[in-house]
Amino acid sequence: MVTKPKKIVYHPACLLFPKLGEEELQQLADDIKANGLRNKVVLFEGKVLDGRNRLAACKLAGVEPTFKKWQGNGSPAEWVISENLIRRHLSASQRAVIAHDLLPLLEREAKARQRLSRGRGKKGAKSQADPSQVGKAAAVAARIARTNATYVEAVKSISAQAPELISRVRSGELTVPDAQRLQRQQEEVAKAKRASRKRKAYAVCEGDVDSVVCGDCFDLIPTLDDLSVNLTLTSPPYAQQRNGHYKGISEAKYPEWTVRWMRLLRDKLTDDGSVLIVIRPHIKDGGIADYVLRTRLALREDGWKECEELIWLKPDAPPLGSTRRPRRTWESVLWFSKTGKPYTNLTAFGKSSNRLGFAGSLRYGVGNGSPISNGQRVDLKNGIARCPDVFVAPVGTNDKGIQHPAVFPVSLAEQLIQVFSRQGDLVLDNFCGSGTTGAAAKKLCRDFRGFETSKRYVKVALRRLAETNGQGVKV
Ligand SMILES: C[S@@+](CC[C@H](N)C(=O)[O-])C[C@H]1O[C@@H](n2cnc3c(N)ncnc32)[C@H](O)[C@@H]1O
Repeated sequence: MVTKPKKIVYHPACLLFPKLGEEELQQLADDIKANGLRNKVVLFEGKVLDGRNRLAACKLAGVEPTFKKWQGNGSPAEWVISENLIRRHLSASQRAVIAHDLLPLLEREAKARQRLSRGRGKKGAKSQADPSQVGKAAAVAARIARTNATYVEAVKSISAQAPELISRVRSGELTVPDAQRLQRQQEEVAKAKRASRKRKAYAVCEGDVDSVVCGDCFDLIPTLDDLSVNLTLTSPPYAQQRNGHYKGISEAKYPEWTVRWMRLLRDKLTDDGSVLIVIRPHIKDGGIADYVLRTRLALREDGWKECEELIWLKPDAPPLGSTRRPRRTWESVLWFSKTGKPYTNLTAFGKSSNRLGFAGSLRYGVGNGSPISNGQRVDLKNGIARCPDVFVAPVGTNDKGIQHPAVFPVSLAEQLIQVFSRQGDLVLDNFCGSGTTGAAAKKLCRDFRGFETSKRYVKVALRRLAETNGQGVKV
C-alpha cells in the first residue's frame, strides 16, 4: 500500500487540466462519499501526477484518499493527458491549451531521457529515443492532446501577447478562433489609441483617448480597462426594429442579450458610474411589447440598480403610428448603476429659479404657508434649479445629412452627459451608430470610446468626431 505523502505537491503535468467547477466537484464528492474513491490518486516521484480533483473532492466528502504509484513507461505527461482526455469532455481549443502547456514538460522529459541515454552509451541512446518526439514540438503536443497543431501554434502566439485570453480558452469560455479575433481587436484598439494620440484629428481636449472601433461590443467591452468608464450612454438595437439596416435581437432573447453585455460592462464601470439606455418598446397586437419590461427586471435580478426612468421628450415628433392613439412623443432613458449612488450634476444645465429651498406646500401638509400661492418667501433663494427627469430634445435638431436610421439628437446626449459625468471622464457608447454620443462627449471635453459593428457607421462616427475638433468647450 502506498502511504499518503507528508506534503501534497503536484507534478506539473497534473496542473495541465482545468479544475472542476464547484458543481461538478460537489457531484464527485457526493459520489466518493456514497461509493468510496474508485480511482486512487496517482503519485510519481512523490508528487501527485493524477487526481487533483479527486483529492479536493475527498476533502469535501470527508473521505481519506488512497494512493498508488505510477507504473507506466515513457512520458508521465503523455499518460496524464491520455487519462484525462478520456474522462473529460474538452473542446479542441481547450485541448490545444493543454498541448501548449505540455511543450516545456515534453522538453524537460526529452532532456532527462537524453541524460539517461548518454549514461548508457550510444546504443542505449537509440533504444531510448521516443518516437513521439519526432517532428515539430507543437505537432507532437497536438497529437498527444488530440487537437490540431495550428491551434497549438495559435495558442502559443496569443499567450505571448494576451495571456488572459488563454485562461478563457482553458475554461471553455472562448474557442481558439474567438481568442484570435479578440486579440486582433485588442491590437486594433491599441492602434486606434496610439493613432488618436498622435494625430489629434479627433482630439479636442488634452489627455484625449477617444476612438471608435469597428467590431462587436461583446468582444470589445472586455478590452476596456477595469473601472475606467464613467458613463455609458447608448441606444441598443431594438428588438427586430431595423432589420433592413442592421441586425435586431429577437424579443425572446432581448433580456438575456442585454444582461450579457451589461455584465461585461460591470467591471469596466466606475462605482459611481451610470449606464443610460435609450429605448421604447413598439406596439404589438394593440399592446406594448413586453421585452423592455422583462429586460429591466432581468437587469435588476442581475444586480443592477435601476435608479430612475428618465424621459426624452421630442416635442416635434412626427405624427407616425396609429391615428387612433396619441402621437408618440417620448422615449425612455433607463438609468442603471452598480451602487445606487451614481455621480450626478443636477444643475449642470438647469434653468434659473427664484424658489430654491422650496420645502413643500400646504397641499402636502408641509411648511407654514403655501409658497405656491404666497409668492417668494424670505428663505427661498435664486439660483439654478435641479434639472427635471424629462429631457427635452427635438428630433429636428439632429445633425443634417447623417446616414443612419436611428440617430438621437446631439442635444439629448449633451444634456445627459453634463448631468451624469464630469469633464475628463470617459464616456462609452457600445452601440455607437453614427457617433452622436461621441460628438456630444467631445464637445463637452469628455473622452469617448465607441464600438460599432458596421464599417459604414464607424466612418460616419469618425467623421463627426473629427468635425467636433476645435469645438470643445470647457463648461
Ligand atoms: C440604435 S443604433 C445607435 C444609434 C446612435 N445612438 C446614433 O445616434 O447614431 C444601434 C447601433 O448599434 C449597432 N450594433 C448592433 N449590434 C451591435 C454590437 N453587437 N456591437 C456593436 N454595435 C452594434 C448597429 O449597427 C447600430 O448602428
